[in-house]
Amino acid sequence: MEKPRYSSVTVLTGSGISAESGVPTFRGEDGLWRHYHAEELATPQAFARDAALVWEWYDWRRGLIAACEPNAAHRTLVEMERECEEFFLITQNVDGLHRRAGSERMVELHGNIWQVRCTAEGSVFVNEEVPLPQIPPRCSCGAPLRPHVVWFGESLDHSSMQAAHAAAEICDLMLVIGTSAVVHPAASLPAIAKQHGAYLVEVNLERTPLSPYADEVLLGSAAQVLPELWDRLRPACQGVS
Ligand code: OAD
Repeated sequence: MEKPRYSSVTVLTGSGISAESGVPTFRGEDGLWRHYHAEELATPQAFARDAALVWEWYDWRRGLIAACEPNAAHRTLVEMERECEEFFLITQNVDGLHRRAGSERMVELHGNIWQVRCTAEGSVFVNEEVPLPQIPPRCSCGAPLRPHVVWFGESLDHSSMQAAHAAAEICDLMLVIGTSAVVHPAASLPAIAKQHGAYLVEVNLERTPLSPYADEVLLGSAAQVLPELWDRLRPACQGVS
């Protein structure tokens, strides 16, 4: 039988890929949503009600993330980007660790915790101050800034979603790493890839709603499994002409 070759690789990541860096996930035993109510912190209504409370939570998370480093899984994706003919990374993570590791061909579907947006003008800035000197932080125009992240009930950035959709449609290999695969529209991307004929590999500590549709489910930690998986897949992804 002919060995498979993959000319286009798309990767979807979730918070599980950053877990070994020390960033908490959302669901599960120690997940953020176990300890905090999403609707009190990650909705536009919560921000309108109490911007300081929302910002205190983000300030705490920014401090925690600032102390974390990318792990072997993030670094493996950088290698893949360098060596695969076509590569695209779609992350749901706002922690910025993929970019810190060196990933470039990517979209951050849910935004980035290191960016802030003016609530009056809509302009977006990088802000890496930890801790924030003023809560809520303010724009030079005087209006409060908000985190440039997608909250519950908000739409995803249209062009990011389009890029993610296109990458899911064209890939012939999709890796889905460290996501519970329950938050849409990100969770629908693997199904799109599969419908278009991609080989689907899931890497997670446990099975998810996606597992029954995956061609391979690799149970284990991303930082351990991904370098091993890349060793195996590398010959099939390199030098496709
Ligand atoms: P979840 O917390 O829902 O899921 C994390 C997944 O990672 C679970 O399936 C875990 O089993 C898995 N996991 C944990 N540690 C792992 C490890 N070391 N290696 C591999 N897998 C591991 O997080 P997400 O799927 O990212 O959205 O959540 C999706 C979205 O829900 C987030 O982007 C956020 C949240 O509400 C917004 O804030 C808009």
